[in-house]
Amino acid sequence: MTVRDILQIGHPVLRGQARPLTVADVGAARTQRLIDDLVDTMRAADGAGLAATQVGEAVQVCVAEVRPGNPRYPYKPVIPLTVLINPVVEPLTAETFANYEGCLSVPGLRGIVERAVEVRVRALDREGVPIDRVVRGLSAGTFQHETDHLRGRLFVDLVADTRSLCTWDEFRLRHEAAFTARALALVARFGS
Ligand code: NI
Repeated sequence: MTVRDILQIGHPVLRGQARPLTVADVGAARTQRLIDDLVDTMRAADGAGLAATQVGEAVQVCVAEVRPGNPRYPYKPVIPLTVLINPVVEPLTAETFANYEGCLSVPGLRGIVERAVEVRVRALDREGVPIDRVVRGLSAGTFQHETDHLRGRLFVDLVADTRSLCTWDEFRLRHEAAFTARALALVARFGS
C-alpha cells in the first residue's frame, strides 16, 4: 500500500492538461502501480475520487469510490470503485444541480458548483476494456469533478457565486442540513 502526497492548489501540475494513455500504457506496470496508489491515497484521505494530476502525474487516470458512511461526504450514495482512463464525460440534459463540492487539493474549502445531473461517461477501465455508461444524480457530479482535474480544472474555477465558498466547519454548522436535504431528494429521484 502506498499513500502518496496530494498536491495542493497552486501546484502547476494541477493546472496542466493530462495526456491520454495508449492501450499499451494501460497494461504497463507503472500505470497499474499508479492506479493502486490512487486507490490507496483516495481511501486514506476519505476522498470520493482522486485524479492522477493530484499526485503529480499528468496522465488521464482517475478513480472514484464512495463507501457507506464516508466521513467527508456522509450524504453521498455509494459508488463502487471505478477506474477511468482517458475519460470523456458529456451532459445528457441541460438540467443541473447546485452541488456543494470540496477537493483534497483545495483543503478547508467548499463551494457551490452547478453540475449536470445526467452524464454519459466513456473511458477505459484498468484492463483497457471500454466503459460506456450513464451516471445520474449526485454521483454524476463526482465524475465531472474528477475528469475536470485531468483538464487542469479545479472546482473553485466553476464556483459562480464566490459568496458560497465556506470552510468545512462553517459548512457543517450552517449549510450541511439544508444541502443534505436537497442532495437526498436528488438521490431519491435518480437512485444515485
Ligand atoms: Ni478534487
